[in-house]
Amino acid sequence: MAERTRLIAGNWKMNLEEWAAVELAGSIADGMPSGTADVVVFPPFPWLVPVSAVLEGSRVALGAQDCSSEAPGAYTGQVSASMLNGLCRYVIVGHSERRRDCCESNELVGLKALAAIEAGIAPIACVGEALDTRKAGDAVAWVEEQLDAITAAVGADRLDQLAIAYEPIWAIGTGHSASVEDAEEMCAEIRRRLGESNPGAAETVRILYGGSVNAGNAHAYLGTASIDGLLVGGASLKSDSFLEIVAASG
Ligand code: PGA
Repeated sequence: MAERTRLIAGNWKMNLEEWAAVELAGSIADGMPSGTADVVVFPPFPWLVPVSAVLEGSRVALGAQDCSSEAPGAYTGQVSASMLNGLCRYVIVGHSERRRDCCESNELVGLKALAAIEAGIAPIACVGEALDTRKAGDAVAWVEEQLDAITAAVGADRLDQLAIAYEPIWAIGTGHSASVEDAEEMCAEIRRRLGESNPGAAETVRILYGGSVNAGNAHAYLGTASIDGLLVGGASLKSDSFLEIVAASG
């Protein structure tokens, strides 16, 4: 089986004043435990530049929370993936909050992943079902549809250039994290589905779990065969909890 480097990602969402973002980045960079996992934080757009200065030379990479699917042009309020190149190594696309609040479709999320790859930035493409969908027994079909749109846009041959984050909507920010078994089962299913298009890439693609991850449960998710990392929201806003999660990744 392919060795996959773990990936621990901190999504700061629309939180923190500039000084607090800079301070948090500094504490994370200074407190980084030794280990092999890739670590990345996703500050709000206006703080990317000041945070990048703090992270320079550290083990912590920088990422953006979104990018446009379009090349530079007349798209008010959007940020192209090419504008992030040189600053960010990663970009989150298709977070459920953007799917919900900005009406992002599966197709658009796929195009954003493609735009990121073409700009040389690694997309972390988010998928995940609502509670009703899970209760109806349709979670796997729902996630497969989201994944298939990403595969269709990116192309099977480039699947190895992205990461997938499985984030069940009902677990995000609720304190009700998915059971390790449910998270593992869906992440294995995601890998299986990717493997139908590109078996080689499915072995190397990193699949993250996200949704109420904290210092107490991180280790259990990372102990499974299918979960290669964590996308952390609330617990990434404090250096202590985020660093404990990084430490759990070994
Ligand atoms: P949470 O958020 O850890 O606060 O649940 C996760 C996410 O939305 O990425």
